[in-house]
Amino acid sequence: MSLSSRHLLGLYGVPKEDIQLILDTATTFREVLERPIKKVPTLQGKTIVNLFYESSTRTRISFELAQKRLSADTINFSTSTSSTKKGETFKDTVRNIEAMKVDMIVVRHQSAGVPTYLTKISKANIINAGDGLHEHPTQGLLDIYSIKEKLGKLDGLKVCIVGDVSHSRVALSNIFGLKTMGAKVSVCGPSTMIPFGIESLGVKVYNKINQAIAEHDVLNVLRIQLERNAGERIPSLREYHNYFGITTERIEKNNRDVLILHPGPINRGVELSSEVADGPYQVILDQVTNGVAIRMAVLYLLGTMH
Ligand code: CP
Repeated sequence: MSLSSRHLLGLYGVPKEDIQLILDTATTFREVLERPIKKVPTLQGKTIVNLFYESSTRTRISFELAQKRLSADTINFSTSTSSTKKGETFKDTVRNIEAMKVDMIVVRHQSAGVPTYLTKISKANIINAGDGLHEHPTQGLLDIYSIKEKLGKLDGLKVCIVGDVSHSRVALSNIFGLKTMGAKVSVCGPSTMIPFGIESLGVKVYNKINQAIAEHDVLNVLRIQLERNAGERIPSLREYHNYFGITTERIEKNNRDVLILHPGPINRGVELSSEVADGPYQVILDQVTNGVAIRMAVLYLLGTMH
C-alpha cells in the first residue's frame, strides 16, 4: 500500500484511501509512542530539513520528534539564524539546502503556495506544515484521527468549525479531509470571519453558537488570529467571547456529548474559557500526542515510496 502522491501539499483532492492509509499507519506509530523505547529504524539514512519561515511550537517540535522517532537525520532551519537575514532569496536558500542532498523538506511559510512552488524547484518530498491562509494538512489529519479515536467513526458525524474561519488554514484542511471521510461539516462564527461563498465547499453556515453546540457531535474551535489582524473583524475580544466563546455553561445547557477540539495555541478566555480548555469535554493534548503519530505516518509513507 502506498500514497498516490509523493508530496503532501494539502488535503484538497487527496483520495479517501490515502487518508485511511495515513490514519491506519498512525495507529501503528501511536503504539510505538507508548513503548519504553519510542524509536524505530524505518527512516535510517534519510535526511529531512524542517524549513520554518513562521513561528510554531506544536508542528515544528512534533515533526522533529517524529523524524527522530523514525531514526532520520533532522536539520532545523529558522529564518532568524539563517542567511535569509543577509538577503538570500527563498529559491537560493532551497537550492543550497538541496545541494546538501536532502530527501524531504517540511515547510511552513506565511505565503500560500510555497510548498507547491518547492515541488517545482526541488527533487525532495515536500510536506506542507502550514502555508499562509491555504492549508495545514497534518493538522487536519491529526484532528480527523483524534475525532475517530474518541468517537469511533467519521462517516455521518457532524463537525462544526468555530471562529476565525477566514484566517484559518486549519479550517480548509479540516473541511476537505473530513468531507472526504464522510463527515458533515459546518462553520460557525461572526459573519466577518466566515469567507463569502464558503457554502460552495458543501458546508452549512451557523451564526448562533448555542445552535451549533446543540446540533453537532464535534466542535473544532479555532484561534482568533490576532497576528493576522483578526481583531479588526470583531468589536472586541470580550464581545467575541460573549457571543461565540465556548463555556462549560453553554456546553451543559446545549449538548453534554459534544467533543471539543482546538488546534492551539489557545487564547484562553476568548475562543474557549479556561474551564473548557482544561475540562472533560476537550481532547486538546490528545491532539498534540496524535500529531506526532500522524507526522510519523506521513514521513514514513512518503519517505519509503519508490
Ligand atoms: N496547531 C499549530 O499549527 O500550532 P503551531 O503554530 O504551534 O505549530
